[in-house]
Amino acid sequence: MATNEDRIDELMELRQQAHLGGGAKSIEKQHQKGKLTARERIDILLDEGSFEEFDSFKAHRCTNFNMEDKQFLGDGVVTGCGTIAGKNVYLFSQDFTVFGGSLSETYAEKICKIMDFALKNGVPLIGINDSGGARIQEGIESLAGYTEIFTRNVMSSGVIPQISVITGPCAGGAVYSPALTDFTIMVKDTSYMFLTGPKVVKSVTFEDVTQEQLGGAEVHSTKSGVAHFCVEDEAQAMECVAKLLSYFPQNNIDHPPLSDANDDPCRETELLNEIIPENPNMPYDILDVIHTVIDCDSFLEVHKNFAKNIVVGFARFDGQPVGIVANQPNVLSGVLDNDASVKAARFVRFCDCFNIPLVTFEDVPGFLPGTKQEYGGIIRNGAKLLYAYAEAVVPKITIITRKAYGGAYCVMSSKHLKGDVVYAWPTAEIAVMGAKGAVEVLYSKEAKASENPTEFLKEKEQEYAKQFCNPYLAAKRGYVDDIIVPSRTRFRIIKSLEMLKHKRDSIPMKRHGNIPL
Ligand code: HXC
Repeated sequence: MATNEDRIDELMELRQQAHLGGGAKSIEKQHQKGKLTARERIDILLDEGSFEEFDSFKAHRCTNFNMEDKQFLGDGVVTGCGTIAGKNVYLFSQDFTVFGGSLSETYAEKICKIMDFALKNGVPLIGINDSGGARIQEGIESLAGYTEIFTRNVMSSGVIPQISVITGPCAGGAVYSPALTDFTIMVKDTSYMFLTGPKVVKSVTFEDVTQEQLGGAEVHSTKSGVAHFCVEDEAQAMECVAKLLSYFPQNNIDHPPLSDANDDPCRETELLNEIIPENPNMPYDILDVIHTVIDCDSFLEVHKNFAKNIVVGFARFDGQPVGIVANQPNVLSGVLDNDASVKAARFVRFCDCFNIPLVTFEDVPGFLPGTKQEYGGIIRNGAKLLYAYAEAVVPKITIITRKAYGGAYCVMSSKHLKGDVVYAWPTAEIAVMGAKGAVEVLYSKEAKASENPTEFLKEKEQEYAKQFCNPYLAAKRGYVDDIIVPSRTRFRIIKSLEMLKHKRDSIPMKRHGNIPL
């Protein structure tokens, strides 16, 4: 009869077996590809010794293709909970060394179990993806498993933050779990995401593409916007998760964590009084403004290389996390186009879900005209940003630095979209459109009849600019709350955040709105 000691020895042996995943050879192969194992990733991500594993003895139930003889404890995914910087997270880490990390019925059950825990306990969920997709030997059960996961992603959306890290393949319908989460981080060279791989693409569209060209980290962080972050290696990916979480509350009824302030709230920067070029058509870098006004080194830019004409990211003011949305005059004059509208709308909605105040810097000449934009749905997409701002009930502070023209004025967190505090710099130009466009519409007939049409239009342009392109008309009507000295911007934002600290607002009771998707 086995003694207690024998039973403990047996347990330890089984645990060791589970820790080896698909075995030493597969681990070596994984390392040769420049990738870490599922457990190594967890070790890097979590506070040391904090990991509590679930279901490490779980095994698949498949009997097709003699699968009953091929068993690996844990069945290809490591799941559990732990802490990052002392705060709880639930996570799963797909183990490519076991059947290529492919998803079986039991594997999906493991993921669903921790997703249920995360939702019930109001704790962020992190998914580390490295998988060949549905386990081919199982078929329909794995499809069912994926769909159970998707349903939980949707139910958790807006309740707990969800972050996906892609460290290897993520193909087929499997891509929809990361797509449903709030942030996706991809690792350069070793990760890729696509619905159909290069072979299928070739047979259907005759296009020749590599995995990297089709769905590498570079592509998704610059062209499609599927990835919010593209990082150099897996260690950086885990750092990025921790950094993101440092701005987030644990759930939608929690408050974002206040940090010890590392910067003087009253700090003034003279540079801001000169940053706007004399010539309204000259660009400047809005990142210089952002970095100057926020707490020192507190900016985490999201979607850095996608739709660069708008900047979004997290920062802190006197230790308080905020979401920043800013037109970027350095790229396409900061115009709003399809990608920029969708990028900003999604970011605004994330902040609103998780009680993170929004600070908007506005310098926008309007929406980008042309068939490409119209055919791409700029009406629908611009409406998304408008909808997101109007619906957001978190504190909303807007600083108009220069241009606030036309429809773009309305959309960028204006007073009329329930913006709480709107400040303008003296360089602001709040008008229906720029002076040049306005006089061309108003005076084209008179210009033609005049002796010197160019000179005539120039004169009218100057008249129009003087009369309309300033912040005072808007201030007279209370559309801006104050015109501020640029160097005092940091102090005024911090004061506004303080003033709005206990803001209470809500939208009418409804099942959900119908955002123009
Ligand atoms: C079972 C799989 C598997 C899968 C890989 N493996 N994918 N086993 N089901 N889906 C196994 C391989 O047979 C191999 O086993 C081991 O994992 C490692 O795979 P390799 O091919 O040697 O690795 P690599 O060269 O790095 O290639 C990785 C890969 C490739 C590109 C992911 O394995 C691949 O193309 N796999 C199939 C992908 C696929 O078509 N999946 C189904 C998609 S449909 P051994 O024993 O040799 O080590 C789908 C639908 C989801 O996912 C729908 C949700 C709604």
